[in-house]
Amino acid sequence: MGNVIRPGDAVIDATVGGGLDTLFLSKAVGPQGTVFGFDVQQHALDKAAQRLASEPAPDNVRLFLAGHETMAEHIPSRFHGSMAGAMFNLGYLPGSDQSVITRPASTCAAIDAALGLLRKGGVISTVLYTGHPGGEDEARSVESHCASLPMDTARIMRCTMHNQPTAQTRILFLEKR
Ligand SMILES: C[S@@+](CC[C@H](N)C(=O)[O-])C[C@H]1O[C@@H](n2cnc3c(N)ncnc32)[C@H](O)[C@@H]1O
Repeated sequence: MGNVIRPGDAVIDATVGGGLDTLFLSKAVGPQGTVFGFDVQQHALDKAAQRLASEPAPDNVRLFLAGHETMAEHIPSRFHGSMAGAMFNLGYLPGSDQSVITRPASTCAAIDAALGLLRKGGVISTVLYTGHPGGEDEARSVESHCASLPMDTARIMRCTMHNQPTAQTRILFLEKR
């Protein structure tokens, strides 16, 4: 992601949670850039806002209490088609209610929405966790959905831990074409 996004870019944190990724994106795009962040839990957004306020980060983050599948409705139309990247860190928020998890249908809808918002060459990173109930199902749904995307829509790389077959994390990188 660090090689794809540049100062001044607009980017998406599709799963804000505690705000670690939001903070990374905020610093990466800098004061002229914008980060649009989504989460369905107010306390996650509060935690993220606290983290951002306690760091020397630019004031460039807009947080929405909304599902990421609705991102295109919340991000102003002037950004549509020009955004540099989107990060999805799926599953549940560590230390929080483990029944609030990302779900296959809304995650796939959100990935499609993000693809529509990115510029050519923009990248979506999707971290899939399989260790919690529902995680493996979601990972398989997302992988299968992404595998069905035409090659002229996105180029997709799937990363696994090659020497650790039982690893619980897989990552997809989608580059918009
Ligand atoms: C693994 S955590 C994200 C961690 C976060 N990126 C960080 O740096 O701390 C996953 C988050 O996704 C959120 N979530 C679940 N369903 C969602 C949805 N439909 N739209 C946006 N966020 C959702 C959860 O509330 C949770 O905070």
